Amino acid sequence: MSLDKREFLQKKKEKLSMGGGAERIEKQHAKGKMTARERLQLLFDEGTFIEIDAFVKNRCTRFGMDKMDFEGESVVTGYGQIDGRVVYAYSQDFTITGGSLGEMHAAKIVKAMDSAAKVGAPLVGLNDSGGARIQEAVDALNGYGSIFYRNSIYSGVIPQISAIMGPCAGGAVYSPALTDFIFMVDKTSQMFITGPQVIKTVTGEIVTSEDLGGAMTHNSISGNAHFMATDEHQCLASIRNLLKYLPSNSMEKAPATECLDDINRQIDELDDLIPDNPNKPYNILDVILPIIDNGEFMEYQPYFATNLVTGYAKINGKSVGIVANQPNVMAGCLDINAGDKGARFIRTCDSFNIPLLTFVDVPGFLPGTNQEYGGIIRHGAKLLYSYSEATVPKVTVITRKAYGGAYLAMCSKSLGADMVFAWPSAEVAVMGSEGAANIIFRNDIAKAENKAETKKKIIEEYSAEFATPYKAAERGFVDDVIEPHSSRQRIIDALNMLEGKRQKLPSKKHGNLPL
Ligand code: HXC
Repeated sequence: MSLDKREFLQKKKEKLSMGGGAERIEKQHAKGKMTARERLQLLFDEGTFIEIDAFVKNRCTRFGMDKMDFEGESVVTGYGQIDGRVVYAYSQDFTITGGSLGEMHAAKIVKAMDSAAKVGAPLVGLNDSGGARIQEAVDALNGYGSIFYRNSIYSGVIPQISAIMGPCAGGAVYSPALTDFIFMVDKTSQMFITGPQVIKTVTGEIVTSEDLGGAMTHNSISGNAHFMATDEHQCLASIRNLLKYLPSNSMEKAPATECLDDINRQIDELDDLIPDNPNKPYNILDVILPIIDNGEFMEYQPYFATNLVTGYAKINGKSVGIVANQPNVMAGCLDINAGDKGARFIRTCDSFNIPLLTFVDVPGFLPGTNQEYGGIIRHGAKLLYSYSEATVPKVTVITRKAYGGAYLAMCSKSLGADMVFAWPSAEVAVMGSEGAANIIFRNDIAKAENKAETKKKIIEEYSAEFATPYKAAERGFVDDVIEPHSSRQRIIDALNMLEGKRQKLPSKKHGNLPL
């Protein structure tokens, strides 16, 4: 082969690697953002990223597209390794037409998605785009549609992870929304269906793009995003970390890591953690962190529906998905947002063979017209449904209150928990003792001479009888009442026993989760 041809190739590749050119790269850096290729270098194990389809370019010749001075398309696609496992990725290149998506941009992403599904590898999408490429009109829309279609049909087949690292507007937000996880970078990423200008024109409302669709907005208010990073480095490192808890596809188990934390470790501080006063809160993280390996917890949606804590950890080197009521927030009551958050998390774990570990301290569903009008019935039902249909190993630990329907919803025996432990402080009952006394002993209290004394006595009697784990244990709804300090050991033992669990649901096309 002549030197000319090889030089031609080299020059072409050099030009391709510069995206929209040095000036636009500088602009990108000035905004505190990395380029598409810089991000991929950091995402993957060093030197493992292989770019494919670098030569693909748009076929649009309208509205000046034929005169643009760049090679290639506004998205970089390829595969590489993360912690030694194959992962596919696409990374939108804002330096070329603002990362806007046209026919060939979409074709590159579609090809990466199909390849990832074919080999059973996770797909990571780094989004930084002005949305549909205006010059390409309906071809751009069709491109989005073909991505949404694949996001949907590959859901539950391979993990799909989205990072929002710049603008993401209009219908473009629906690709991330269809994926399993959304990361956002504080201050440099936004997602919205209609931007501030349109909102101002249509409703007169004035809002900044950060308030409307910034990272904190979606992590804390809307619940559309699951993780927030302070900068792009942290975002990419967090994606790598998340993958440690996930299998490459739904046919595999998550990778096990060597457990350097004593599996027989007793945790004495748990014995004194639960306050004697049932109305006194405590932090459920003080239960979770000592139990998991090395206290390493990747919290999912840490700013949204904080009355329910969810997240990934390793126990004995194996991944678990943890769901826990947080007594520190609204006494741990379940509400609409907690229903949504919990159900989504549980289904994600079940899709990817990650056992569920549930900690229960729940006084009930949050009362009020806001909740009832907002549909707490159907949102709460999502929790019941997703726990029931989950076929992964399910271990539950009741630390304190487990009342009524909320008790059932938090992975009770009746919903298919494989092992239910209760601490001696557990109260498995229809409701709290005071509430129960007020209803069933109302007449006795009303007739009594000393009402306060009578009520106190009745509550004490009721508590002694029902506010314990023993009624439930007598019926086998609780498998064992355990000392809190033995929790880590007992959970590991249960998960080991459940390693071989195989459960098939009745044959069906698909279930109908309440939405
Ligand atoms: C073509 C686009 C573009 C787009 C930006 N560019 N968006 N080109 N189609 N949608 C180009 C700009 O012309 C510019 O080109 C370069 O990208 C950088 O854009 P700037 O405006 O200079 O950058 P910045 O100031 O950072 O602003 C970024 C932005 C803004 C907020 C994204 O560009 C913007 O508002 N763009 C339009 C967004 C939009 O309305 N998109 C359509 C949404 S509707 P040069 O050559 O100067 O570098 C949609 C429907 C999807 O997406 C439906 C799916 C079902």
